[in-house]
Amino acid sequence: MERIPETELMKKKEQVLSYDEADFSEGEVNLINQINHYLLRKSISLSEKDLIVDLGCGPGNISEKLAIKWPNTEVVGIDGSKEMIMRAEYNKETSTQKKYLKNLRYICSDIKDIKSTKFLLKKKIRLLVSNSLIHHITHLEDFFKTIRSLSSNITINFHKDLKRPLDEKSALELKAQCSTKYNEILTNDYYASLKASYTFKELRNFTLENDLSSLEVFEDGDKYLIVYGNV
Ligand SMILES: C[S@@+](CC[C@H](N)C(=O)[O-])C[C@H]1O[C@@H](n2cnc3c(N)ncnc32)[C@H](O)[C@@H]1O
Repeated sequence: MERIPETELMKKKEQVLSYDEADFSEGEVNLINQINHYLLRKSISLSEKDLIVDLGCGPGNISEKLAIKWPNTEVVGIDGSKEMIMRAEYNKETSTQKKYLKNLRYICSDIKDIKSTKFLLKKKIRLLVSNSLIHHITHLEDFFKTIRSLSSNITINFHKDLKRPLDEKSALELKAQCSTKYNEILTNDYYASLKASYTFKELRNFTLENDLSSLEVFEDGDKYLIVYGNV
């Protein structure tokens, strides 16, 4: 199936609310466990000095879980949508876990404007994460340029995203499954996201052709892709 890009930033109020109200916790916990296993395998333990950045953080679901899992680190969630950042701030403020989120802050910035964002990050990043972001980015080079620019020799990258279905029939089946759990706005957004997603081959070829072969691309089941490693 050919890729159909979607709008990068999620700015519409009803879109932000539908996303925020949905329960994606199972997948989110999975991602935190996957990152944790990866760090354990590499014998890396995160400490007070370490900075974790969550790119395209949306309403902060992953950022909050990172902050709770690694309480001694500083966690920064970055999103280009003002509406999403406002929601993330609201969620942090009203969370029952608020007292465990003191190490978390948010920055509103497009990942393509990384120069100004870099200025706001005073330390080197130890863990650079994203979830469901890559498919929003119209040109793959913008995503990889950003992570290259934010990474140093100490940075572990871990980025998870949807994998584009093989054909329209599979995309429609996934859309139908989604509609049994979520509202129409979210279902339509998910369908657009599936079509905008990249394939394993596209991500792998990009890394190989752009001197990024230190990054691994991995198929996580039949729905997801993970890009991880050092840049
Ligand atoms: C599908 S949501 C994922 C949110 C969050 N990572 C999660 O897993 O719940 C994608 C988010 O990426 C943000 N985004 C898309 N393109 C971006 C860009 N170029 N710069 C910054 N944020 C971007 C959108 O505004 C949206 O909040």
